[in-house]
Amino acid sequence: MRNHRLPHLVATLNGDVVGYAYVVLFRKRPAYRFAVKHSIYIHHDHQGRGIGRLLLGELVDACAASGFRQMIGYIDADNGASLALHDKFGFARVGVLPGVAYRYGKWCDTVMVQRSLASGATAPPASVFSR
Ligand SMILES: CC(C)(COP(=O)(O)OP(=O)(O)OC[C@H]1O[C@@H](n2cnc3c(N)ncnc32)[C@H](O)[C@@H]1OP(=O)(O)O)[C@@H](O)C(=O)NCCC(=O)NCCS
Repeated sequence: MRNHRLPHLVATLNGDVVGYAYVVLFRKRPAYRFAVKHSIYIHHDHQGRGIGRLLLGELVDACAASGFRQMIGYIDADNGASLALHDKFGFARVGVLPGVAYRYGKWCDTVMVQRSLASGATAPPASVFSR
């Protein structure tokens, strides 16, 4: 992940891992090299204490510093906590994928969220990344 400039963060509390957040490339084809797809998880004993806010903020900053321009996430439509967290960090709800997950005996929708980083799509990438 380091070789590919892909930030990968771990939150610890008194030496225990309590959460993590990381990105992978949104798609492997070269044209998509400025877009990442992220995941974030906080241990259930430690949710609602500000760790998700800390990790997502750091992840956004780290991705921007690495030259990425778009962050994309997929969130279960019933996951109010994650949707609210992403709203706070400026992610727009850009689409709904109906019935793509089957969980606890029912089909579930997924919400696709996205935010731009740095100048987003308003300026070309820095020359070091632009090949
Ligand atoms: C969603 C998740 C990442 C949030 O992290 P967290 O550490 O619990 O959240 P925080 O305490 O940092 O809260 C940050 C913001 O998230 C939102 N939030 C957190 N818990 C919430 C809840 N139970 N209901 C509604 N909003 C909530 C709020 O907007 C909150 O801001 P506020 O405290 O100013 O109101 C975490 O609960 C989690 O890992 N859940 C299980 C796995 C998961 O759903 N991962 C995301 C998959 S897309």
